[in-house]
Amino acid sequence: MKIKHLEDLNTLVSLSKRRGFVFQSSEIYGGLGSCWDYGPLGSLMKLNVKRAWWNAMTRRPDIVGLDAAILMHPMVWKASGHVDGFSDPLVDCKECKTRFRADNTDSYINEKKCPNCGSKNLSEERSFNLMFKTHMGPLEDTGSVVYLRPETAQGHFVNFQNCQQASRYKIPFGIAAIGKSFRNEITPGNFIFRTREFEQMEMQYFVEPGTDEQFFKEWKERRWNFYIKFGIKPENLKFKDHDKLAHYAKAAVDVEFKFPMGFSELEGIHNRSDFDLSQHMKFSGKNLEYFDEPNKKKYIPYVIETAVGCDRLFLAFLCDAYREEVTTDEAGKEDVRVVMGLHPEIAPFKVAVLPLSKKEELSSISEKLRDQLAEDFDVNYDESQSIGKRYRRQDEIGTPFCVTVDFDTINDQAVTVRHRDKMTQERVAITQLNAYIAAKLKTFNQ
Ligand code: GAP
Repeated sequence: MKIKHLEDLNTLVSLSKRRGFVFQSSEIYGGLGSCWDYGPLGSLMKLNVKRAWWNAMTRRPDIVGLDAAILMHPMVWKASGHVDGFSDPLVDCKECKTRFRADNTDSYINEKKCPNCGSKNLSEERSFNLMFKTHMGPLEDTGSVVYLRPETAQGHFVNFQNCQQASRYKIPFGIAAIGKSFRNEITPGNFIFRTREFEQMEMQYFVEPGTDEQFFKEWKERRWNFYIKFGIKPENLKFKDHDKLAHYAKAAVDVEFKFPMGFSELEGIHNRSDFDLSQHMKFSGKNLEYFDEPNKKKYIPYVIETAVGCDRLFLAFLCDAYREEVTTDEAGKEDVRVVMGLHPEIAPFKVAVLPLSKKEELSSISEKLRDQLAEDFDVNYDESQSIGKRYRRQDEIGTPFCVTVDFDTINDQAVTVRHRDKMTQERVAITQLNAYIAAKLKTFNQ
């Protein structure tokens, strides 16, 4: 058997639409640039991605959760540096009207040429702030301007003291949050890799100055292990140190994943020093120092940040999981089984119920069985076309187990359970099925 991995993002874009992972936003109106909707399978899988991250972060004795508002006081963005500094240099080609970023377009950096048509008839470089602006209240005057947050992190900084005092956690401790962020990117693209509306999963870990480098190292290791645990192949991951540090960072490293367009940033891990808390102290006039009671010390904590895009991780999981198993029979005829080899915790459905026939004596048992399984798992039910085709449909969306109800089930009250990857089959009593699936999901890859 030959295994082919994903080579082209378009394969995934069309599978996503066909099977209901991701649709283009407002498609019936021609779509809206770089905006995407998560469909029946995508919405389930996205919840699983978030749950995996959330549990890894908050099922620890030193991290609390937060769900902050998207709209924040406009001074937050003055203090954070986003109003003055969160911009990209923008250039327009006067010939073909292409708009591009001056700082990451090779043909412009080297030869001052348009990357699309090669013309040198270009506009001046302009600084373009990436924050979306809107107005609060009925009047559109400058006094009512608010921004859609470009990162979730600022919610953590302005709530640092609230979270610390409410939880009574001592430093070192962290705040984790999942939420939408918005950036008016000049060049979004590559499906859900870079979009203007996206979800971030960020954790800020507050530490004593002087211990920051050690915690930075520890979080690098933990984040790497998280990806491996959820099935990302180590050869598709690497760390990349930043050559140029952001205004707030003392150290920064990206976790890069090998997307079809090459290794690109999946997650950023940053040592933000005491930059953010100091800025918010300055702009709000509030003292955000931490008092270390046992050691009678006062200090502004340093922050180690881990920040990953949920949509980008969703894409990485799909890219990594996709495989085509190609077999050739004796007559030379090729057969391709497409498998989305997702980690069972990430897969949209854990189990599918497939009655062998649509006859009432099987569908009545099968529907009951679906409800029994749905008490513990996300279940799919499929009764149309041959059993072989139905197995293939489940393989393509990553369902770890298929349960077939056949005519023997009427007498023996047992079903056949098929494993997605090994394709082994086992007969299991209906009364034992939920416990069986739960146990097998835990040891799926062993
Ligand atoms: N608070 C730090 C921060 O926001 P970042 O490196 O700008 O850091 C963190 O963003 C992560 O958010 C990125 O590694 C990426 O996964 C995701 N992200 C950023 N911009 C994105 C976009 N336009 N579309 C999708 N994901 C994005």
